[in-house]
Amino acid sequence: MKERHDQERVILITGAPCTGKTTIAKIIAKELRIKHINIGKKVIDENLYLGYDYKRMSFIADNEKLIESLVAEIKRTGYLIIIEGHYADIVPDQFVKKAIVLRTDINELIRRMKGKKYPEKKIEENITAEIMEIPLQNCLESYGKDKIFEIDTTMKSAKEIANLILDLLFRENCL
Ligand SMILES: Nc1ncnc2c1ncn2[C@@H]1O[C@H](COP(=O)(O)OP(=O)(O)OP(=O)(O)O)[C@@H](O)[C@H]1O
Ligand SMILES: [Mg+2]
Repeated sequence: MKERHDQERVILITGAPCTGKTTIAKIIAKELRIKHINIGKKVIDENLYLGYDYKRMSFIADNEKLIESLVAEIKRTGYLIIIEGHYADIVPDQFVKKAIVLRTDINELIRRMKGKKYPEKKIEENITAEIMEIPLQNCLESYGKDKIFEIDTTMKSAKEIANLILDLLFRENCL
């Protein structure tokens, strides 16, 4: 049992596109001086994809290879590690200490996606994912509610959200 908990060293940050995962993960990683993995970036940097979906303008991850590479990296890291992405819930439960799900009001999400020049079709898809609470449902399925912490990012700055997460990690004896 102890060994199982020893492996729980991942702080997962997930949420629909543009909820602020990367911005917040960077602040926390800098504050705690720990490693931060951006799943989308890892897929591209390490060629962990099956191909490119031109309609969605995104790479199709090779989940088997991706999980294998993530697990190897988690095992190599002796301390906490942040893993973020909108499909971050592929990280196996045995390694996850806390799963933070970022939520954002639809109008604010649209504003942020337009700011990042997302194509209309992608904005529509992403909004549907947020309305249907896909990242939250996926995390509930993968980890159960006790590991999950939801944050509404709409009216808070990235710094405020990072501080909320740091407080939570401290309160829950994760640090
Ligand atoms: N709390 C916040 N309030 C206002 N704007 C924010 C906040 N957090 C992030 N942003 C802005 O929203 C945009 C998206 O942020 P970011 O890239 O961190 O999101 P993401 O969830 O990583 O998106 P993606 O899934 O596309 O990688 C950026 O322009 C960022 O500056
Ligand atoms: Mg990002």
